[in-house]
Amino acid sequence: MLETIPNTEGIYYVGVNDTDIDLFENQYPVPNGVSYNAYVILDEKIAVMDTVDPRATSAWLARLEEVLDGRTPDYLIISHMEPDHAGSILALTQKYPSMTLVGSAKALTMLTNFCVTPPENPTLGVKEGDTLPLGSHTLHFVMAPMVHWPEVMVTYESTERVLFSADAFGKFGAVGTDEPWLDEARRYFINIVGKYGMPVQTLLKKAAKLDIRTICPLHGPILTENIAFYLEKYQTWSSYQPETSGVLIAHASIHGHTAQAAQLLADDLTAMGETVVLLDLTRCDVAEAVQQAFRFDRMILAAASYDGGVFLPMEEFLLHLQAKNFQNRTVALVENGSWAPSAAKRMRTYLDTMKQLTVLDEMVSICSVVKPADEAALHALAEAVHKAAVTA
Ligand code: FEO
Repeated sequence: MLETIPNTEGIYYVGVNDTDIDLFENQYPVPNGVSYNAYVILDEKIAVMDTVDPRATSAWLARLEEVLDGRTPDYLIISHMEPDHAGSILALTQKYPSMTLVGSAKALTMLTNFCVTPPENPTLGVKEGDTLPLGSHTLHFVMAPMVHWPEVMVTYESTERVLFSADAFGKFGAVGTDEPWLDEARRYFINIVGKYGMPVQTLLKKAAKLDIRTICPLHGPILTENIAFYLEKYQTWSSYQPETSGVLIAHASIHGHTAQAAQLLADDLTAMGETVVLLDLTRCDVAEAVQQAFRFDRMILAAASYDGGVFLPMEEFLLHLQAKNFQNRTVALVENGSWAPSAAKRMRTYLDTMKQLTVLDEMVSICSVVKPADEAALHALAEAVHKAAVTA
C-alpha cells in the first residue's frame, strides 16, 4: 500500500537509492550510496517534484507510475538542473508530452542547453513569490540562486507546510542508512555548497518567514522533527562560524616523521581536554578533511617540504579549502625539511589568501626526525593552540 510522506496527505516520496555509485559527482566517496529524491503531489492537479539521475531513470519511472496509478501529471516542478535531479526530464516528457514544465527562467534556458533535442512540452517560467494552486495544495516558489546553481528555486507547499528544499538540507548516504544526519550532511554541504555562504544566508532569511513542518530535500532523509536544529546548522555553516570547539590536525608525511609530530600534538591536545581529529592527508578523503576543518575553530597543518614547496597532498588540501572559502579560524603550522625547509612558506601562500585567519607565530620546523628539542617546541605549539580556543 502506498504511503504519503509523514505529516501529509497526498504527498508521496518517489526517490531512488543508488548504492552502486562509488564517487558522487565523480569526486566524493559515498560508502553508503546516495539517494536521488523526488516527490509527487496528488491533488486535483498533479505535480511531480523533480526527477532523478539517469542512473536511476527506470526504477524511478516504475515507482512514479505506481503512485500515479494511471493518471497523467499536470506539472513537473524543476528546482535544479544538475543532472542528478534533471537527468530524467527527457524520459518523463516523452511519456507525458502534455505535462507543463515549471521552473525559473534560468532553469528553462538551462533545460535547452542540457538537451540535444529539447522537449516540446508547454513551459511555465516562475519567479519569486509566484504561486501555483493544485487544489487543496498550493505551491509557492522561492528563488534560491547559487544553492547550488544559479537557476535553483525551492518550493513551499503551504497547506501541509512542506519545504521542497532542492539540494539544501541534503546528505550523502542512501535513504534508510543507519547513520547520524550530521556528519554526512556537513561533508555534503561544506564540499558542495560551502563556497556559497551568502546565497544560503539569503535563503535562510526567506525560510525564516515560512512555517515549516517538513523539509523534503533532494538527497537523504525527509526531515520531520526539530526543524530548528537543521536550520541552525545551516546558519552556522553558511556564516563560516566554527560548529564546535576542537582541533583538526591534518598531516602530509613522506617517511613518517611529520606524522609522528602530528601524533605527539594530538596526544598533547587530547590530554588538555581538547576534541581532536587527526587525519592523514595522503590517505583520507580530502572532502572529509575539508568538512572537519570547517567543523572546528582550530587547525594544525603538518607537512613535509617537497620540490621547493610542500608535499602535494597538503597542497591539494589547501586548494580545496581555498575553493570552499575557508575562513575565520586559527591555524598553526609544522613543517619538516631535511635540507631546505619550504613547506611552511608554501602553506602560508595559501592561507594568506583566506579571510579572517589567524596563523599562530609558534611555527615548528623539524629537520628530518623528531628530536627532544622538537618535542618541546611541539608542546609549546600545542599550548598555544589550546589557548586559542574561541568556542565553548
Ligand atoms: Fe544534488 Fe546540485 O545537485
